[in-house]
Amino acid sequence: MGISLAWFLVFCKRLSQAPSAAEGARFARVANRSRTVLRERVGKGTGFGLRSARSDGDGSGSGAGLMTMQNRGRFITLEGGEGAGKSVQARRLEARLAALGLAVVRTREPGGSPGAEALREAILTGFASDFSSAGQALLFAAARVDHLDRTVLPALERGAWVVSDRFADSTRAYQGAAGNLPPGFIADLERLTVGPNRPDLTLILDLPADVGLKRAAERRRTGPADRFERQGLPFHETLRRAFLDIAVAEPGRCVVIDALSSEDEVAAAVWAAVEARLDPAGAVKARA
Ligand code: TMP
Repeated sequence: MGISLAWFLVFCKRLSQAPSAAEGARFARVANRSRTVLRERVGKGTGFGLRSARSDGDGSGSGAGLMTMQNRGRFITLEGGEGAGKSVQARRLEARLAALGLAVVRTREPGGSPGAEALREAILTGFASDFSSAGQALLFAAARVDHLDRTVLPALERGAWVVSDRFADSTRAYQGAAGNLPPGFIADLERLTVGPNRPDLTLILDLPADVGLKRAAERRRTGPADRFERQGLPFHETLRRAFLDIAVAEPGRCVVIDALSSEDEVAAAVWAAVEARLDPAGAVKARA
């Protein structure tokens, strides 16, 4: 079914190198051709995680065989800079939802499916860790497509609630804002790969960048920092601003949580947001 991973990786690697003018033109032609193929797929709603998991909102979820909105699970993402405590809060949220009787799938990005986990290693510590922001954004997007196709969308369609530690907002913040990619590049990529499958709720765990970096270093102890943790404070301050900007731009989807408070207080704020926005107890009752 089209573009092989090997071709894609070569394409990403080439993007991360400075091409000659002739090479640049050739790559632009290939990229345009690929975009046309992808657009056709979007139109047909096949593959690439592009089938609609929603039956409300933008009205795009009309496919036969999809669950009704009532029975479909909910997609919750946790976002934020380094050391914000997303993973701990994702575990606590999973436990709380499960205690109500909901089926829950906790997952993460990059990763969350076998293929995406392989890409995680390549991007964070392996051969792709020196790719440019553009090359990295494409790899994160490739991992996201596999994660959506194999983990997130099937879980939502069988009624499970999905809690993901990071998703597409991380690409907007890390590769877009902090990595200096043009907003149009990121928006195009998100449209092609995420499409209508946006989260129902995004919790942005916010704390000062220097505190987050200290926490991340303590958590990692003597282990090596990944390529993003190694960036200086200005990079991480840009990230923080980028996540807050996303929350301002999309208040219907995003809630900012003060992550400077204690773990219990953050968990309480997370739960309050989930209850207010998604009514998990009501969802359990509706299924009974
Ligand atoms: P983490 O799971 O420990 O947060 O590590 C994932 C790293 O990958 C983190 O530094 C953020 C980075 N990342 C991006 O740069 N772009 C992305 O799209 C995603 C999902 C993660």
